[in-house]
Amino acid sequence: MKIAILGAAGGIGQALGLLLKTQLPAGSELSLYDIAPLTPGVAVDLSHIPTAVKVTGFSGEDPSLALKNADIVLISAGVARKPGMARADLFNVNAGIVKNLVASCADTCPKALIGIITNPVNATVPIAAGVLKDMGVYDSARLFGVTTLDIIRSNTFVAETKGLNPEDFEVPVIGGHSGITILPLLSQSGCEFTEEETAALTTRIQNAGTEVVEAKAGGGSATLSMGYAGARFCLSLVRALNGEDNVIECTYIEGPGDKARFFAQPVLLGKGGVEKVLDYGDLTAFEGAGLNGALDTLNSDISSGELFK
Ligand code: LMR
Repeated sequence: MKIAILGAAGGIGQALGLLLKTQLPAGSELSLYDIAPLTPGVAVDLSHIPTAVKVTGFSGEDPSLALKNADIVLISAGVARKPGMARADLFNVNAGIVKNLVASCADTCPKALIGIITNPVNATVPIAAGVLKDMGVYDSARLFGVTTLDIIRSNTFVAETKGLNPEDFEVPVIGGHSGITILPLLSQSGCEFTEEETAALTTRIQNAGTEVVEAKAGGGSATLSMGYAGARFCLSLVRALNGEDNVIECTYIEGPGDKARFFAQPVLLGKGGVEKVLDYGDLTAFEGAGLNGALDTLNSDISSGELFK
C-alpha cells in the first residue's frame, strides 16, 4: 500500500506523516511531496522512526515522482486562514493548487483514492471532480473531502460536556466543512442533551476551526488535530482497501444528490472506495432546520468549485 501526502512539509502534512509513519501497517510506503525544499529532509527525519514503513520525499514543481503507484493520495497543500477570514476566502489561492495537484494525480495514479483536506473543502472537492472528469478518469467512489475533524471535535466537546470518555461514542456529522454547513447529529450520539446543550454544542462545533484560528492569532489554523483526523480517515481507507468489512466514515462525497451534489454523510468504505452511501437517519426538528438553513450556502460553495477553470 502506498500513501502519498501532497503538502507534506506543512503543519498538517508533517503531523499526518508522523502519525502515518507510526500507524500504517508494516510494509506500507509513505511518499511525501511538497513544493518546499525541506520535504526530502522531512522524509529523512521520519525514516529514523523504527517502523516497517518506508518513507521517501520529493520537492519542487512536479509531484509525479511521489505519486507513482500511489493507492491513496491525501492533499493538504495550500494556505491557511488568519483571524477574520472565512474558509471561502482561501479559494483564490487554494483552488489553483488543488487543480494542479489533482491533474497530476489523474496523469500518474488515476485509480488512487484521493482525500482532499485543502480548504475550502466544500469547493475544492468539486474542483477536483471537475479536473478528474475533464481528464476522463473521474470515479465519484474514489474522491473524498476529509471532514473527520468535525467528527473528532464533536466527540471531544460532547465528552467534555457530559463527563464521558470521547472514545465511547461517535457523533455523525453531515453537510459540508464550513460554518453552518457543518451539521453534527447530536441526537444520534447515544447521549441525552437539553435544548440549550444542543444549541451550544452545535455552535461550538461549527465554529471550532475559527476557535483554533483565533487562538493561533495569525499563526495559521488547525494542524495537529487536522493531522490526527486525516490519519484516522486514511487508516480507514487502508483498512477498507485491505478488505476489512464494515469500515464506515462520514465524508464529503458526490452521493445521491438529493440535498446537494456533494454532501458529507456516513459511507461504507470498500476496495473501490465508496462501497455504499449510507442513510443518515431521522433528524430532529433542530437538525432538520439546520440542514435546511445550510443548503443555500453549501450549494453556492459547490457552484463556485464547479465554475472554477
Ligand atoms: C478546521 O476546521 O480547523 C480547518 O478547516 C481549518 C480552518 O480554516 O478552520
